[in-house]
Amino acid sequence: MAGGWLGAALLGLHLCSVTLALDVSVGKATTISTQNGSDVLLPCTFTACIGFENAEFSWWFNSTKLYAGTVRNKNSKPVCKHCNPRVELPEVTLHKDSREYNLSVILLSVDFSDSGKYTCVVKNPKEKGAEHNATLSLLVVVELEKVDKTLAKIIAAVVGGVIGLLILILLVKKLILFILKKKKEKNNECLVSSSGNDNTENGLAGSKADRKPAPKA
Ligand SMILES: *[C@@H]1O[C@H](CO)[C@@H](O)[C@H](O)[C@H]1NC(C)=O
Ligand SMILES: *[C@@H]1O[C@H](CO)[C@@H](O)[C@H](O)[C@H]1NC(C)=O
Ligand SMILES: *[C@@H]1O[C@H](CO)[C@@H](O)[C@H](O)[C@H]1NC(C)=O
Ligand SMILES: *[C@@H]1O[C@H](CO)[C@@H](O)[C@H](O)[C@H]1NC(C)=O
Repeated sequence: MAGGWLGAALLGLHLCSVTLALDVSVGKATTISTQNGSDVLLPCTFTACIGFENAEFSWWFNSTKLYAGTVRNKNSKPVCKHCNPRVELPEVTLHKDSREYNLSVILLSVDFSDSGKYTCVVKNPKEKGAEHNATLSLLVVVELEKVDKTLAKIIAAVVGGVIGLLILILLVKKLILFILKKKKEKNNECLVSSSGNDNTENGLAGSKADRKPAPKA
C-alpha cells in the first residue's frame, strides 16, 4: 500500500520533471478534416503539474491570433479577452479531479480559406511564465465521403464496362458466326452448282443442298 503511494508520488514527480510541468496537447489526430460550411471543434487540453493560476491561452491560425483568453483556475471557465465572432467556447464539464484542463474551441461555419495550421498556446504564470503550444492542421473539404463515393462510382463503372464489353463480345461473336455461316452456305451452294456435276458420290451433293435450311444459328 505505502509502496504504491510512494510509487505514484515518484511517478508524479518524474512526469513533472520530464514534461517540464506544463503540457499542451491537441490530441492524437494531427489533421482534422471537415466539410465546408460546418462547425468544427479544435481540440486542446493542457496539464500543469504544480497547478495553474490565471493561465493565459491563445489560438493562432497560421501566424495570426484567432482567439485569446484567460483561465483563473481549474474550477473556473475560460474567459475570452481577444474575442472572435467565429470562435465559441463549448460547454465543458469541469472535472475537479482531472489534471487536464480542456481549452477546445469551436470554429463556426468553416470555409476553404480556413484550411491551415491551428496552434493552441498556454502560458502559466505560476510556473515562471512557462509557455507551451501544440499545433494541428485543419483541412476543409467539399464532401467528407467524397473518396468513398468516387471509389464506388469507379467500381460501378468498371463492372458496368466489363459486363457491357462481354455482351458486345458475345454479340460480335454471334454476328461473325452468323456471317461465316451464311458465307459457308453460299460457298456450299456454289460448290453444289459448280462442281456438283463432277461429284460422283451418289446424290450426296443433292442431299447436302436439301439439308441446307435446317440448322440455323
Ligand atoms: C462552401 O461554403 C460556402 C459558404 O459556407 C458556400 O458559399 C459555397 O458554395 C460552398 N462551396 C461548396 C463547393 O460547397
Ligand atoms: C473537450 O471539450 C469538448 C467539448 O465539450 C469535448 O468534445 C472534448 O471531448 C473534450 N476533450 C477532452 C480531452 O476531454
Ligand atoms: C495557412 O497555411 C496553409 C499551409 O500551412 C496554407 O495552405 C494556407 O493558404 C494559409 N492560409 C492563410 C489564410 O494564410
Ligand atoms: C510554439 O513553440 C515553439 C517552440 O517551443 C515556438 O518556436 C513557436 O513560436 C511557438 N508558437 C507559437 C504560436 O507560440
